Amino acid sequence: MSASPSSSASSSITGAAARAPSDVWTGAGQRVFMQDVGTRDGLQSETTFVPTADKIALVDALSQAGLAKVEVTAFVSPKAIPVLADASEVMAGITRQPGVIYTVLVPNVRGAERAIEARADELNLVMSASESHNLSNLRMTREQSFAGLAEVAAMAHQAGIAVNVSLSCSFGCPMEGDVPFETVLGWCGHFLEDLGARGVTLCDTTGMAYPTQVVALVRAYRERWPEAQLTLHFHNTRGMGLVNVIAAIDAGADRFDASLGGIGGCPYAPGATGNVCTEEIVHALQCMGCDTGVDLERLIAAAKRLPPLIGHPVPSQIVSAGRRLDLHPRPRDFDAIRERALARDA
Ligand code: COA
Ligand code: ZN
Repeated sequence: MSASPSSSASSSITGAAARAPSDVWTGAGQRVFMQDVGTRDGLQSETTFVPTADKIALVDALSQAGLAKVEVTAFVSPKAIPVLADASEVMAGITRQPGVIYTVLVPNVRGAERAIEARADELNLVMSASESHNLSNLRMTREQSFAGLAEVAAMAHQAGIAVNVSLSCSFGCPMEGDVPFETVLGWCGHFLEDLGARGVTLCDTTGMAYPTQVVALVRAYRERWPEAQLTLHFHNTRGMGLVNVIAAIDAGADRFDASLGGIGGCPYAPGATGNVCTEEIVHALQCMGCDTGVDLERLIAAAKRLPPLIGHPVPSQIVSAGRRLDLHPRPRDFDAIRERALARDA
């Protein structure tokens, strides 16, 4: 016999009654912090080298559009990611807007030296929750990565620079499958409690996250570290990007990575595709009454600059379709159509 139907029915009714709708469903002007990773996660997956001056212009367009944080570039090996070899020049060329945090991806001590020299506001340390992905992407075991990143955190502390950690494959690994929650939360604990990171970004590197999993992981993180920053980094590989964002907000998250135009992906993760698209997420959140602080018109104008730079269209549905109230003219023979319709009643 299966479990008693009456007991499961009554518990689900009690659960529904006990749960109040969260602010995300009531348009309560909730603040959501948007962080663009297009010039890092986005451009790293492109084969075309975008000229340094154009990268600088993109970063400046993003900060002028009101993004809370911009992940400008990555201080990784130029052999691993040749298209970001100009990281120092990009950092030197940007015009810093007050209040915007300029963060950079750092995998090791060499990257930290370059990032500190470039006066990054934050070092975004990268490592994977999955051993297979960490070895493929960073050529180290997770333990080796962590030992190097502990040194990086000490360097950042010494320089008075904040540390965030991007934990790749937190929602699953394309080579290993599901990564246990305890593994993910265990690494979060090492970075937050042992290294003093101010926050963790749970990255869904290849779009394996789904809403109920997102809610469970966000709640577990929030319960253990209510004061630490939490960022969610989703890829739209399987079409679940936006629903995962909404699920995360419902569970208590307020910070999201997204990529201008929806470009992006890790070159060392099989099957990786674009990040959730910044203008799509901002558009949806603004429709729902959230306060993102982003000027959507400027953001869309910035996204429209991408196709000629990368040599192909962007996945952004907002670039293709416009905003929901970007209205279109009626058909040219509209008056005739109406007259003909009304004549039927005469
Ligand atoms: N910045 C610039 N150069 C770096 C560097 C950094 N952060 N880290 C290493 N290098 C250089 C070394 O100086 C060395 O140069 P040399 O050959 O001229 O002597 C070379 O790269 C190899 O260094 P090594 O320490 O042996 O690195 P590795 O080949 O084992 O690669 C990483 C390890 C982490 C440096 C490399 O895999 C990497 O940068 N990965 C990042 C991948 C990425 O960005 N993925 C997408 C983001 S999720
Ligand atoms: Zn990513």
